Amino acid sequence: MGFPLTDAQRALEARARTLARDVIAPRAAEIDRSEDYPWDNVTALKEAGFLGMTIPRAFGGQGLGYLEAVLVIEELAKVCGVTARIAVETNMGALGAIMAYGTEAQKRLAAGLVLDGDKPAICITEPEAGSAATEMTTRADRKDGRYILNGRKHWITGGGVSRLHLIFARVYHDGVEQGIGGFIALRDDGPGLVVGRREPTMGLRGIPETEIVIEDLELDEERLLLPPEGLRRGFAQLMTAYNGQRVGAATVALGLAAGAYEQALDYSRRREQFGRPICEFQGLQWMLADMSIQLSAARALIHQAAADPGEGGFPDVTASAQAKVFAADMAIKVTNDALQIFGAAGYSRGNPLERMARDARMFTIGGGTAQILRTVVASKVLGRKLPQTRDGYLNQARGGA
Ligand code: FAD
Ligand code: COA
Repeated sequence: MGFPLTDAQRALEARARTLARDVIAPRAAEIDRSEDYPWDNVTALKEAGFLGMTIPRAFGGQGLGYLEAVLVIEELAKVCGVTARIAVETNMGALGAIMAYGTEAQKRLAAGLVLDGDKPAICITEPEAGSAATEMTTRADRKDGRYILNGRKHWITGGGVSRLHLIFARVYHDGVEQGIGGFIALRDDGPGLVVGRREPTMGLRGIPETEIVIEDLELDEERLLLPPEGLRRGFAQLMTAYNGQRVGAATVALGLAAGAYEQALDYSRRREQFGRPICEFQGLQWMLADMSIQLSAARALIHQAAADPGEGGFPDVTASAQAKVFAADMAIKVTNDALQIFGAAGYSRGNPLERMARDARMFTIGGGTAQILRTVVASKVLGRKLPQTRDGYLNQARGGA
């Protein structure tokens, strides 16, 4: 049950399911164990045409929409969260922003890299600016037709494996701040982009999360990604593009939960206790029913957000926040319930359930926390901005903007 899909969309989904079952699933446990980036899966995604699906045909892609991308991502996430996240970042996120706002040369650069197997990195978060992303201090100073970037990002997905980076920075011309812009930097652009410490993570272990230290990184002016309304509106428009990534992240959470549910359903039919398959016990039947209801609801929110693009062709800010909040909370519950249905076998590292539960834990944190995204939704519900800084709140309370 779900959003009405066309025959072509169903065929795409079926193709992703087959690749996931035959090629990706057998490798998932080893990726988790080794924590190595799965280059062989990248090749498999590339050969299947699942990298850069959303890139317009004029730039070598297939010109598919976000709905097609999420159909593929869910199938991959059912068996391997890491590989599904690679599909997110090679179809959404930094790539989406560059393909929407970039110059011809920037689009050609990004499309070429992604279609060749590169997973772009998006560099927003800093040690002192997580949820409060607009408080970032990474700066780009214009000097003699070039920009010089300095700052420190952390928790950057793909640090050390990604070539393409979209770095958010405060832009200064003659020492005067112009707004927050996005800079396209390549890992081999020079010594100014340093891949720092890798975080040891709870789950999703096959993709490095690292610091990116930016020290006097010199970039040509052509590397500034200028959204339509320029630097003044830069951050808002870059975040508009980022809504696509939020829908993608929601889909990985959905897929992990759906995969865990399918395994629990199957196990509940095979495992016998008290002389009966455990699915005959009402306690488990109601768990399975609740899981299926939650999955359908998350899928509906995600498909709605993906199929109904708002500003600039990107998923709407509220719809993507709703989808991610719901899918992320749901995935924690559903993967844990699935693990419960396996009993002790679910707690064993010999089964994928414990990996899926660890992987699912991430999605209420990365890409905008569950609390921040609820504030985004509340702002829509109440029909007004909800400034989170003390000054912004006081200003609003005194009748300011
Ligand atoms: P904080 O902002 O310090 O928040 C701490 C707690 O306080 C949270 O529970 C939060 O919800 C709560 N909180 C903060 N402010 C409020 C408020 N106003 N109201 C209510 N609650 C509040 N970043 C990138 O730029 N690029 C990436 O590729 C990337 N990948 C990531 C991958 C992973 C696996 C993870 C875990 C993170 C990644 N991040 C990335 C960083 C991520 O976006 C941040 O972790 C997130 O924005 C939260 O920031 P923080 O961790 O500093 O938490
Ligand atoms: N989609 C569209 N526009 C967005 C947006 C989004 N997802 N997030 C912010 N904006 C716009 C706002 O509407 C606002 O535009 P306006 O000036 O026309 O009103 C502008 O960007 C600034 O946003 P605002 O909410 O006023 O900023 P803030 O200083 O209060 O900071 C955020 C709050 C945006 C940083 C916070 O809500 C947030 O999203 N934090 C999580 C960051 C994140 O997702 N990091 C992931 C890194 S991978």
